[in-house]
Amino acid sequence: MMLLIVVQPANAHISMCCGKCGGNMPLNIPGAGSTKALAYQTRCGACHGLPHPHRHTFAHWGHLLALMEVRIKGCGMDPLNADDRDAILAYLKNNARSD
Ligand code: HEC
Repeated sequence: MMLLIVVQPANAHISMCCGKCGGNMPLNIPGAGSTKALAYQTRCGACHGLPHPHRHTFAHWGHLLALMEVRIKGCGMDPLNADDRDAILAYLKNNARSD
């Protein structure tokens, strides 16, 4: 059985950097602390280190997001709801690599 604890205090972006990075989480992602960045950190850093948004173009992120939704389902985690997906897509659109 998997126990998932999500703590989201106002300074979650700071505590999550210390608790979940496994050594490879970017400490300074763009927009850290915004609602959109928090959605990205919370949902996309749960299974692996948080990928830096510059790693891919927005088009590529769209494909990856669909694949990650399959992974999330496969693990029995709560699926991304519309708000999560919108926030994550908006975050990646603003911060993805441009070429
Ligand atoms: C349920 C666990 C889980 C969650 C939550 C998750 N991922 Fe993943 N992710 C994986 C696994 C497992 C892999 C390894 C590759 C694979 O099996 O697809 C991976 C790989 C990746 C990779 C590397 C892919 C590559 O080929 O370079 C990226 C980027 C990524 N995830 C982004 C995300 C994003 C963005 C989110 C949030 C929407 C997210 N992940 C949420 C499980 C997860």
